[in-house]
Amino acid sequence: MHSGTTLTQFIIEEQRRVVGATGDFTSLLNDVVTAIKVIAHVVNKGDLLGVLGSAGSENVQGETQKKLDVITNDVMLRSNEWAGHLAAMASEEMEDIFLIPKPYPRGKYLLIFDPLDGSSNIDVNISVGTIFSILRAPEGVTDPTAQDFLQPGTRQVAAGYALYGPSTMMMLTAGHGVNGFTLDRDVGEFILTHRNVQITPDTREFAINTSNERFWEPPVQRYVEECLQGKDGPRGENFNMRWVASMVAEVHRILVRGGVFLYPKDTKDPSKAGKLRLLYEANPMSFIVEQAGGLSSTGRERIMDIKPGGLHQRVPVILGSRNEVERLIAYHR
Ligand code: AHG
Ligand code: MN
Ligand code: MN
Repeated sequence: MHSGTTLTQFIIEEQRRVVGATGDFTSLLNDVVTAIKVIAHVVNKGDLLGVLGSAGSENVQGETQKKLDVITNDVMLRSNEWAGHLAAMASEEMEDIFLIPKPYPRGKYLLIFDPLDGSSNIDVNISVGTIFSILRAPEGVTDPTAQDFLQPGTRQVAAGYALYGPSTMMMLTAGHGVNGFTLDRDVGEFILTHRNVQITPDTREFAINTSNERFWEPPVQRYVEECLQGKDGPRGENFNMRWVASMVAEVHRILVRGGVFLYPKDTKDPSKAGKLRLLYEANPMSFIVEQAGGLSSTGRERIMDIKPGGLHQRVPVILGSRNEVERLIAYHR
């Protein structure tokens, strides 16, 4: 039984260590947490609230939106628009950025999110999540444009995700390691349960959608082939494989027990460099993974060093246990 530190207490204690902190960032995080609690509730109720199934619309990514994609996007907007900490928000589910509307005051932060990650899993009751990233608006900018969101991942002030699984959990980094919290529904608070999480540098577990194998590049084909050969191949050890199709669940598994996750570059749709989105998925997850001692790369460059070219840009993603990601980078050379 954990009766320890609440997330609110944790964030406030962190804030006290930052000289000159105004409390703005702390309150912003609190609003994000409130949104996550609401989403956890709606996701948990599922069909009892009639929220499963398709919304009958398409998002800017050309993907069919689920009702819950739309609802969770709205929860994120409504929870975070009023408090005066943000200048604007950007979401995987919206073509353009969302400027904080009148009569609310505007603040100095930008919030970026994937309100419901893994939404193809929602109707079959498999884990889904919410991913978010916080940036500073450029100095003096009160009317941000999409351009102001195109900052490399190294500029993130904080990033986190919520995983709506058997328990609802939240993992968070503000650049001083990664800490994990579990929602106590009876109390209505996230409680610190995973302090200073570290990804083991070695692993014998990989995650990739192998149905795309014929579209991969040779370095990834080689890597997976060697894993599949197990004890009889060049690696000399058996590997295990997982694919949940919710990035949040895969990253969470990697934080807890190690592993490597790949959604690599493929030739399936030549107009897209990868499937996952740099701003909403790849950057926040890379920040978390690196803060936990892992690595995150496209295979050719560090993801957080990429200068984004557009809000909805996609990138290849290879992340997780350091030594496996390093091997994959070496294969790409
Ligand atoms: P989203 O539901 O936000 O569109 O993201 C789904 C992503 C990611 O979470 C997952 O790793 C991947 O898409 C699954 O892709 P496949 O369906 O190709 O396996
Ligand atoms: Mn997603
Ligand atoms: Mn999504």
